Amino acid sequence: MRSIPRVARAFAVAGALTLALAACGGGDDDTSTSGGDELVTVGFVAVGPEGGWRQANEANVQDTFTEEAGFELKYAPATNLDQRSQIDAFTSFVDEGVDVILLSATEGAGWEDSLRRAQEAEIPVILVDRGIEPDDTSLYVTRIAPDNYEVSTAVAEWAVSEFPDGGNYFVLEGPAGVSVVNERNRGWDDAVASVPGLVKVGAQTANWSTEEAKSVFETVLKSNNNDIQLVFAQNDEMGLGAAIAVEEAGLTPGVDVKIATIDGTKPALEALAEGRLSFVAEYNPLFGETLLEVVEQVLNGEEVEPYIVVPSETFDSPEAATAALPSRKY
Ligand code: AHR
Repeated sequence: MRSIPRVARAFAVAGALTLALAACGGGDDDTSTSGGDELVTVGFVAVGPEGGWRQANEANVQDTFTEEAGFELKYAPATNLDQRSQIDAFTSFVDEGVDVILLSATEGAGWEDSLRRAQEAEIPVILVDRGIEPDDTSLYVTRIAPDNYEVSTAVAEWAVSEFPDGGNYFVLEGPAGVSVVNERNRGWDDAVASVPGLVKVGAQTANWSTEEAKSVFETVLKSNNNDIQLVFAQNDEMGLGAAIAVEEAGLTPGVDVKIATIDGTKPALEALAEGRLSFVAEYNPLFGETLLEVVEQVLNGEEVEPYIVVPSETFDSPEAATAALPSRKY
């Protein structure tokens, strides 16, 4: 049983005082049993500008944790994706005594000392999207994200079905050291390993970037005489970069080279509708409401699961993308 965070005790004491005053007919006219008007302070150690998915996720968190909802959200994006700036922001939030810290880690490793400091200060930490490596669930309360292993397994299972006679493939990875990259590699590798015909020509990071993915995949096509039939791009922006490289090589995406991506942003679904991408697995970024509910449970001292999975869907055809686009929110 985790120790009840300071705030939960504060809520409990305030609630008890209110009930006691109400029972004695004392206290002010306000008979509300809330713990007063004090806002819950939330320190959000965020990634900051990174791409469409990140923009959607961080905007959703900020739009959810409003003063009207009872929160003061302190948003601290990393400086140029630098972990040092995140650790500094994390330390500041601990020193300031915020009620809860949300962490989207730019790097999986290197968080033990920070997390232990938050524990000593009885400040609960919730991982948003990104995990820590090595994973130690005793160092944080819970992680909220879609399941990267399952999402990449869905991509791999589509690839296996698309290439019954095999083919050469290339993987465009996110940055080294990011937890979701390792999780996506594991899901893909475990699902594809048993398929002898699918041959991994190589893998390289393109740092979530369309421009970098275009450059990387141009080189890969040239060095393999265009003999690549499949690309697993670990996010939409990199998949769109690969599609440009395919077109600039005089090939046709979706015909000569099928490209599968993860995230489910509008540009990717538009490209799927046009046939430039062939498969898009959503990695749903819009989980702010779930996150708020979990924060309230945690601050009330309730037990929560160590990993709260956000449901995500997949899109495997132009028709599916076209049907989904009008209702997409990011
Ligand atoms: O951690 C989620 C990943 O980070 C997304 O798939 C990618 O687009 C973002 O940059």
